[in-house]
Amino acid sequence: SSNQMWGGRFASGPSAIMEEINASIGFDKKLYAQDIRGSKAHATMLAHQGIISAEDKDKILHGLDTILSEIESGQFVFSRKLEDIHMNVEARLADLIGSAAGRLHTARSRNDQVALDFRLWVKEELQKTEQALSGLIAAFLDRAEEHADTVMPGFTHLQTAQPVTFGHHCMAYVEMFGRDRQRVRHAIEHLDESPIGAAALAGTGYPIDRHMTAQALGFREPTRNSIDTVSDRDFALEFLSIASIAAVHLSRLAEEIVIWSTPQFGFIRLSDAFSTGSSIMPQKKNPDAAELVRAKTGRINGSLIALLTVMKGLPLAYSKDMQEDKEQVFDAAESLELAIAAMTGMVTDMTIRTDKMKAAAGSGYSTATDLADWLVREAGLPFRDAHHVTGNAVAMAEKKGCDLAELSLEELQSINAAITADVFNVLTVEASVASRKSFGGTAPSEVRKQIAWWRARN
Ligand code: ARG
Repeated sequence: SSNQMWGGRFASGPSAIMEEINASIGFDKKLYAQDIRGSKAHATMLAHQGIISAEDKDKILHGLDTILSEIESGQFVFSRKLEDIHMNVEARLADLIGSAAGRLHTARSRNDQVALDFRLWVKEELQKTEQALSGLIAAFLDRAEEHADTVMPGFTHLQTAQPVTFGHHCMAYVEMFGRDRQRVRHAIEHLDESPIGAAALAGTGYPIDRHMTAQALGFREPTRNSIDTVSDRDFALEFLSIASIAAVHLSRLAEEIVIWSTPQFGFIRLSDAFSTGSSIMPQKKNPDAAELVRAKTGRINGSLIALLTVMKGLPLAYSKDMQEDKEQVFDAAESLELAIAAMTGMVTDMTIRTDKMKAAAGSGYSTATDLADWLVREAGLPFRDAHHVTGNAVAMAEKKGCDLAELSLEELQSINAAITADVFNVLTVEASVASRKSFGGTAPSEVRKQIAWWRARN
């Protein structure tokens, strides 16, 4: 039998394969609440403008409310023959209220309808993401405050570079997730325009009021170009871009957690709640949650590339290719939510092994730069010469198998006569971090200032 929505033109229904490739109900049923909200706003506007009767509008609103509760209570029967969420809802409305249901689609197309539903969904997801990122930032701020004085090695090339504080390292992630949150806020502003009323692509001859529907649906204003409105999936691409960048941040953190929790580093101990054991090796405690966060990033980034690729060759306006937008966004959103939640849990629960961090902070000649700086400051050497002298001291310590601070004054003086006992005051890791008071530096006093700045904004 032919389709009840376009049976006028069609003598027969689709082949089984056509139905399978065409149907989106399997995933776009997720948009049911947005679809019903949008239809209610549209019907209300149609009646207000005298395009449908108040009586039909009331029937439509009542029917849509019934459908909403049917879906939410699990009674609603979704049909693949009806393709998508839009036609599933409209067909059920016809069962419930009869011919008035046929008036709902006046001055509307599924093209502006799907653009509306999906935008509403992405907007809500962005709001959830903003909240989740704030929670993660809060978790980091607490750990940073607790460990503003905890010394650890800072790395470049994953080689010990200079001592930093764990609080400072935590605050680096606060900056990253803070930028993600800003991007989310901007994306909410960018998408805050209502597509409904663009109709198929050209607008409509009915005297609709797009400002009214925009306001009813919580948008700042209606979109300005009907062709762009039904062609545009920038809001989905922007969500995926933001999700991808945030996921990259989460993945770098995951990688650090994996490294830090090895017995070789031993900087942190993950809680039992966020690790797993091995079925064969009794001693193991594995950072599976961190590894899965790292892996979800591959998925999220893949979704961005998938949708960019779907969109790149499409002529204006709507093409059915665009139906492939939703699964990418839904999957990325689910992965991102889970990854942020898992990370927030890990960061909150992990034990910081300050003794291990401190021992590592002092090894690997991490205060060599402090020795060079001392030579510049106290002995008046040009930095390049001081660098060379310090290099000699490191080579000597390396040969002896000891730390810089373990060289005797005589040994240091044999390299450069200007060195005095005062130098030992800068060779400790505590002195090293305390000295780095430049704005944004690792000194505990600076880190506390940055924590206060973020607390006022979180
Ligand atoms: N299920 C479709 C989608 O997700 C809805 C829009 C269909 N529009 C059309 N002209 N066939 O994109």
